[in-house]
Amino acid sequence: MSDLKQQLLSIKDEFDAKVLNITNSQEADALRVAYLGKKGELTGVLRGMGSLSPEERPVIGQVANEVRAHMEEELTTKIAAIKEAEKQEKLKNEVIDVTLPSKIRRAGARHPMYQAINEICDIFLGLGYTIGEGPEVEYDEYNFEKLRLPKGHPARDTQDTFYISENILLRTQTSPMQIRIMENNKPPIKVVCPGKVYRQDTMDSTHSPIFHQIEGLVVDKGVTMGDLVGSLKLFAKKLFGEETEIRLRPHHFPFTEPSCEVDLTCWSCGGKGCRVCKGEGWIEVLGAGMVHPEVLENCGIDSEVYSGFAFGIGVERTAMGRFGIDDIRLLYENDVRFLKQFK
Ligand code: DAH
Repeated sequence: MSDLKQQLLSIKDEFDAKVLNITNSQEADALRVAYLGKKGELTGVLRGMGSLSPEERPVIGQVANEVRAHMEEELTTKIAAIKEAEKQEKLKNEVIDVTLPSKIRRAGARHPMYQAINEICDIFLGLGYTIGEGPEVEYDEYNFEKLRLPKGHPARDTQDTFYISENILLRTQTSPMQIRIMENNKPPIKVVCPGKVYRQDTMDSTHSPIFHQIEGLVVDKGVTMGDLVGSLKLFAKKLFGEETEIRLRPHHFPFTEPSCEVDLTCWSCGGKGCRVCKGEGWIEVLGAGMVHPEVLENCGIDSEVYSGFAFGIGVERTAMGRFGIDDIRLLYENDVRFLKQFK
């Protein structure tokens, strides 16, 4: 056997021994350079081919090609195996434990009372009203005086509240918003004002010292009681369904004349009489009336030219009817098990 062939075969053996020990792709690259590169072992041997006889050359050439092919194949196989091993290792490290508790972020929802407030305000927005808001800490002047409830007026008894000072209190109604709006805007006025109100009251299933009202006010030339009735009818039907009717009962509020209390067809029995409406077939939901001329004048509006109507909706009762809630306290306890039902 010629020297060169001998050399080629021993290079091959050497390579075979080394390739077995490769553990990563850098080592594989280094081995390729060392044996098959320009200055590698195999190339070195092939340089000596020039001195061979023409008969020997093709024979050695063939052996050299076989050795090269063998090395390349070995390397390719080895690299594939290394890559696969590396992938398996990575997968092993990235394994997901599906039994771990997950981090679910639960979406909240609006409180049923605010859902009701939004629904009611939406109805009035659709009728062309704007929305107004004002302070819960209010002047006696706005909460009472300018609404024709001077100090000592008997109607103040039912609206005892929390006093900050002699003339500053927690508002007992949203009606002071009528004054605020009329002092700051010229007619035509068409606004609803939702908000919290406060009264000295003991908590039970139908009473709470903090509750919500939505005040409505419309002032323009030629506004009549007919407009009030029409607006409230629309409101009742939109909120509780087409079959809902309204009933007006004469009443007294110092800031409206005439005044009325307004009942809606019982949302539970549809008017037949049941436990919810205490056999009446009707449920009282709001107070209303034509804005008293003196109240208009108190705010600098000429009562000879303008007239208006106002109403105050009790939100709790309406929300309870809307959602079938039978105890007002549920609305304030914020028990998640209760609130979840109104998602
Ligand atoms: N503010 C009254 C109350 O809390 C409700 C009310 C009655 C509001 C008549 C009005 C109204 O705007 O015109 O009892």
